[in-house]
Amino acid sequence: RQYRNGVKHLCENGISKIPTKYVLPESDRPGSYKGKPNVGNVNLKLPVIDFAELQGPNRSQVLQSLAIACEQYGFFQVVNHGIPIEVTSDMIDTSTRFFELPFEERSKYMSSDMKSPVRYGTSFNQNVDKVYCWRDFLKLICNPITDVVHHWPSSPMDFRTLAATYAKDTKYLSLMLTEAILESLGLCGTTKNKIPEDDEIMKLFEDGSHLMVVNCYPPCPEPDLTLGMPPHSDYGFLTLLLQDEVEGLQIQYQDKWVTVEPITNSFVVNVGDHLEIFSNGRYKSVVHRVLVNSAKHRISVASLHSIPFKCTVSPSPKLVDEDNPRRYKDADFASFLEYISSCEHKRKNFLESRK
Ligand code: SIN
Ligand code: FE2
Repeated sequence: RQYRNGVKHLCENGISKIPTKYVLPESDRPGSYKGKPNVGNVNLKLPVIDFAELQGPNRSQVLQSLAIACEQYGFFQVVNHGIPIEVTSDMIDTSTRFFELPFEERSKYMSSDMKSPVRYGTSFNQNVDKVYCWRDFLKLICNPITDVVHHWPSSPMDFRTLAATYAKDTKYLSLMLTEAILESLGLCGTTKNKIPEDDEIMKLFEDGSHLMVVNCYPPCPEPDLTLGMPPHSDYGFLTLLLQDEVEGLQIQYQDKWVTVEPITNSFVVNVGDHLEIFSNGRYKSVVHRVLVNSAKHRISVASLHSIPFKCTVSPSPKLVDEDNPRRYKDADFASFLEYISSCEHKRKNFLESRK
């Protein structure tokens, strides 16, 4: 039952082979795509969105690039995002130090309560995963921040302050990107000709749910047999991912797994299931996974943004007409929870059950 304590703890005891609990069936291993060999080891440069340019006179061109990225890749990288480099590097740094704390200190935050404001754990969903993945995580609920921050880890000493600043800055960035995405779908007027309905929808996101997942992937002695995260799509509307300089994220693109090349001081942003539903399938929530390696430790921080948990997501009526019939059933958080607790991995896309 050692593996219940996570991979960091396992590695601290020194191992040269991975326990069988982590060994995937051959068809699910990194070298395989849908049971067939994955062709080559391809790196992919994602479309780059210049956030500063989005705020200037070239907004409409940037919105077009944004639409193409969301339609064809479901992913893009944001540069010139305006969040100071100290804020992002401090977040990576304090997260690294959190995972270096003695196991007894980290394990204080273990909880099986999905609604707990802080939850330390391992694998993807450790209660149902038959094969475990090579990841430990710290999940932090971030809204409303004043109600939750005092539940967050008190060690390292600066963790709460640095993580709260990071949460505030990424929330603002997510709102700006959401507004741009709605505008790119023709749903939100430009800044000059907004209508009250546009403000209402943005208000939903301002009060929306915000979850931060700090991921820790220690070096793995047999990286070809396991994964840091199994294939999944993200629930929610938009995910902002901060990673250190170590690659690992792969996305499904043109019938193969491709590795996303990290760009210094950028965010990887991806379309979640809710945005796919809301856009009636125009924007794609793309399946992705994480590889581990034998040499380097990797840290990433995913910020998941959506409308409040109690709300239901439906295709926007403005995107449904005779030529574009409604393609999805409504989705709410309760049905999602039921879904993830009933399958081994969120491997079969949640969206499939909404079509
Ligand atoms: C994810 O949250 O799905 C990806 C995380 C990562 O790249 O580490
Ligand atoms: Fe993800």
